[in-house]
Amino acid sequence: MGRLEGKITLVTGAGNPRGLGAATAQRYAEEGAFVYVTDLDEGGAQGVADAIRAAGGQAEELAQDVTSEASWDEVFAAIESGHGRLDVLVNNAGIAILKPLEQLTAADWEKQNKVNLDSVFYGTQRAVALMRKVGEGGSIVNLSSIAGLVGVTMCGAYAAAKGGVRLFSKVVAMECAAEQIRCNSVHPGMIETAMQDVARSDNPEGFKQIVGGIPMKRMGSPLDIANMNLFLASDEANYITGCEFIVDGGVTAM
Ligand SMILES: NC(=O)c1ccc[n+]([C@@H]2O[C@H](COP(=O)([O-])OP(=O)(O)OC[C@H]3O[C@@H](n4cnc5c(N)ncnc54)[C@H](O)[C@@H]3O)[C@@H](O)[C@H]2O)c1
Repeated sequence: MGRLEGKITLVTGAGNPRGLGAATAQRYAEEGAFVYVTDLDEGGAQGVADAIRAAGGQAEELAQDVTSEASWDEVFAAIESGHGRLDVLVNNAGIAILKPLEQLTAADWEKQNKVNLDSVFYGTQRAVALMRKVGEGGSIVNLSSIAGLVGVTMCGAYAAAKGGVRLFSKVVAMECAAEQIRCNSVHPGMIETAMQDVARSDNPEGFKQIVGGIPMKRMGSPLDIANMNLFLASDEANYITGCEFIVDGGVTAM
């Protein structure tokens, strides 16, 4: 019996096969969940869902722009007509606009917060409404970052969004705890995905130095985050809500 047997789950931003969302969707399916795989990149979402089905898992791809409330409504309409319930939401979709303060524009700030923070509000509000209607609890896993915990240069807008995700998660946890709807945030350090490609190609030497400064001397893998997301989605985490989970090879312990 899988650790998520029978659970209906939704992972946003899961259409990049190298990303944290795809790794999470794959782990969830391996453990018996039905996974809605959503992404702005419709073809990407289909590819990840196809791979899950080819491996014997259960998945359905949906095109979704997490910055659009109408798009969230369409996704939840599909979930309600397909299964009538949602047990787990992973708010994973995100972008990183990394610039020093003097170069950040108001448009950068707005876009960064729209994709990484407003989306978490839109999704969480709808998930909680459906979970309350079903009345059997649920788990919401919000992807923050170590940049949502400590100061990281170039991360002005990104950190504001990720810090917002951290505290928003705690408020949701407080408002929903009595109904057994849990909400936690996950804080990855440097993980080997497409998100790190730009930083690496912009300044290969500097990038090497940063990785050398990680206590474990290496970047994390998407599976490291997927396994944390799996634990938080599972009944093993039944008494855990309003907490923050750091997966960073020791960076924030320094
Ligand atoms: N990789 C890291 O080192 C790292 C570190 C800390 C936090 N995170 C966070 O983890 C999450 C996943 O990051 P990743 O490294 O897998 O990124 P990624 O760039 O590999 O994947 C992000 C996915 O989100 C999708 N997306 C972007 N905008 C969207 C939108 N408006 N609607 C729907 N989907 C959209 C993209 O198409 C992509 O498939 C993000 O929230 C990121 O901020 C990543």
